[in-house]
Amino acid sequence: MNHFLDIHKTGAAELRGMIDQARAMKEARKGLPKGAPDAEQPLKDHIVALIFEKPSTRTRVSFDVGVRQMGGQTLVLSSADMQLGHGETIADTARVLSRYVDLIMIRTFEEEKLLELAKHATVPVINGLTDRTHPCQIMADILTFEEHHGPIKGKKVVWTGDGNNVAASFLHAAGQFGFDLTFAGPEQLDPEPEFVEFARSKGVKVEIERDAAKAVEGADLVVADTWVSMHDKDAAARHNLLQPYQVNAELMAHAKPDALFMHCLPAHRGEEVTDEVMDGPQSVIFDEAENRLHAQKAIMRWCLEK
Ligand code: CP
Ligand code: NVA
Repeated sequence: MNHFLDIHKTGAAELRGMIDQARAMKEARKGLPKGAPDAEQPLKDHIVALIFEKPSTRTRVSFDVGVRQMGGQTLVLSSADMQLGHGETIADTARVLSRYVDLIMIRTFEEEKLLELAKHATVPVINGLTDRTHPCQIMADILTFEEHHGPIKGKKVVWTGDGNNVAASFLHAAGQFGFDLTFAGPEQLDPEPEFVEFARSKGVKVEIERDAAKAVEGADLVVADTWVSMHDKDAAARHNLLQPYQVNAELMAHAKPDALFMHCLPAHRGEEVTDEVMDGPQSVIFDEAENRLHAQKAIMRWCLEK
């Protein structure tokens, strides 16, 4: 079963194949209206369930549009409206949904729920974000980087702020795509050692740096994310800890002159990043958002291929 659960659980060659396919599929539909079908219809006669236990704009819309462009149909489900939100087990939900649909995407809280769903589903499952990782986002980010700056292999990425779910998937990607990653954030919010160890085990350099300006030296890409993720409760403490890691023009000036800026969005302008960076010439945030669509189409194709 081709589940897409995490970047470190999928082979590097297969990940590379998905990025290349995403780029080709994006290119092939240049100039078409958003609702026009792709020339190839790999999801024809397929139904995809999109389950959300947390809010979403990009993941919800990009998956839905992507399925339609590839000829399939979607069911967008909120767990609050399902029996899942009222005591039915995730295992039984997996078994039942597998009788109705061909593919399941879920955005949830605990990673265990995703793993339990995948264990009991007889159709592929895609991770649309958990408290621990966000692999679809980073596939879109790799695509975005390479469109602007060519191969990401050997480049320096600097993650600023919280060592959260998006940072974790960046660390997985560092290992699988072969780029170095510097984490610039407070000790209290370091990424879990397991993620750092995975990247290092693949031979890439991972540095932990408390001084944001020092961290950003020589960066090809600077990345920020919200200081308070959807599952976090300690907002005030996080704001205090993370203030020194705000990405502003002064910080960007320490990176390479052509360094890109990325943010998975939604952003809190004036907190983790300033308007001048968000809207500045180095920012590729809306390309990233668009590329969720193209990257996930390639992921869905891969899921259904075997
Ligand atoms: N970046 C991202 O996953 O956005 P949404 O929460 O809007 O889906
Ligand atoms: N780290 C953020 C990402 C949102 C797409 C969160 O989990 O809320």
